[in-house]
Amino acid sequence: MVSAWYENVPSCLPGEVVVALSLPPSVARSPLGTTLRWSATHGLMRAAIRRQVRAGNPDARLLLDPVLQADPFPHYERLRGRHPFAMGAFARLTVHHDIATAVLRSDDFGVTHPTQVVPAPARAALALAGPTRHPGPIDPPSMLAVDAPDHPRYRKLVTRAFTARRVAALRERTTEIARELLDDMERDVRAGETVDLVARYASLLPVTVISEMLGVPTSMREQFLAWGDGAATSLDMGLTRQAHASMERNLAALHDWMRDHLRRLRREPGDDLLSGLVGEVDEEGAGLTEQELVSTALLVLAAGFETTVNLIGNGASQLFAHPEQRERLVAEPDLWPNAVDEVLRFDPPVERTARRAKVDTEVAGEAIPAGDLVVTVLAGANRDPQVFADPAAFDVARVNAKEHLAFSSGPHFCLGAQLARMEGEVALRALFERHPHLAPAGAPRRRPTRILRGYAELPVRLTPAVSAAR
Ligand code: HEM
Repeated sequence: MVSAWYENVPSCLPGEVVVALSLPPSVARSPLGTTLRWSATHGLMRAAIRRQVRAGNPDARLLLDPVLQADPFPHYERLRGRHPFAMGAFARLTVHHDIATAVLRSDDFGVTHPTQVVPAPARAALALAGPTRHPGPIDPPSMLAVDAPDHPRYRKLVTRAFTARRVAALRERTTEIARELLDDMERDVRAGETVDLVARYASLLPVTVISEMLGVPTSMREQFLAWGDGAATSLDMGLTRQAHASMERNLAALHDWMRDHLRRLRREPGDDLLSGLVGEVDEEGAGLTEQELVSTALLVLAAGFETTVNLIGNGASQLFAHPEQRERLVAEPDLWPNAVDEVLRFDPPVERTARRAKVDTEVAGEAIPAGDLVVTVLAGANRDPQVFADPAAFDVARVNAKEHLAFSSGPHFCLGAQLARMEGEVALRALFERHPHLAPAGAPRRRPTRILRGYAELPVRLTPAVSAAR
């Protein structure tokens, strides 16, 4: 049975009205609903990307080819000749620092989410399938997927937990966590043996820090990592049906857990960020609605560990590949904070993001009609020779490393940037000071995600520890 409704579908431009039929909620939640949602978004997108591959579009090839994704930088250099935009798989795309910054900061552009990218006929199918009950990090009401006036309303509620002062206060505890993790690793693995640095260190440090900040039990950290890994593909376009179904399942598990946890906090609030947020819920709509609360809590939790793991893994990998830079850090440890920014510039954990023109506009002389998407390749902008001298060199002493766009720019600039920098510095420094001769052991394995770039597995050989008491 279907019922008719009229809705200003969120994916529409102002004034655009779609007349749609919707399935009853029980069907929307069923495999049929999932299949319809997949077909109307990722399925269509996948077919469009494949068509572009056949037409010879190199960016479309990159999106579907894990081998090219392992080293996308030569591709970005080929695109650099196209200014201000090259043609991406399904939208204009830029690898230029000035253009990316201009788009990300412009009031003429807003954020975008997957349902906006689908062609008009597919929106009807999407409306029929009904909204997912478990919106992901780039679905409204996540703060990553909304513009003003909602965006500053959500962001304001959590900003105070991430100020430089609050982050500085967390440094000591983060150092302790790093020490505990290194101790655990040494207890279980002898010098000369192989261990996966991602599983035993890079993933555990950020999830422990953010769990403690949010007041979620650290005993859940392995479970969060498993759900988070399963849901991380929600940032990507053109997922296979299986990957999409798995992503929806993992998002559902995260939502269910968070909903229950917030209910517990309402009964017994603690002295943590989420307990503070719970007090903001207002059924009248004046504060956060239940859905806004869950989305905000989940975004902060997942953003807190899904990205920083890549910073630590990518950082370790770059330091393995550049022993002379490692030696420089031994001689000049004050360079560690800058080294972290250089890792973020050189091998950023978030590869690209996108914006949608809200009005007819123009960027560097190119007209962009309202509704068009623009992809900003943060990893490409970070190697723009107009900003960074010798951009393909990894240089921990680079004077302007901080000018990277790894944390984006404009109103959605990463809320956790200070925290991520501090965690990256503490984690990498503690690791290499404890194990000065740490070496890779065997081939690393990359995560299957395309927007998030990092390692799923980074085997290393432990060397005798310098001092467990450090
Ligand atoms: C190295 C680690 C990290 C990187 C590379 C990173 C990168 C980013 C990027 C690129 C964006 C903006 C996306 C866009 O403009 O479309 C973003 C937003 C965000 N990040 Fe991070 N992030 C990191 C760590 C963290 C941490 C530790 C947290 C905190 C818990 C966090 C919380 C957020 C939040 C809440 C947003 C949304 C901000 C908004 O929409 O206003 N991130 N991050």
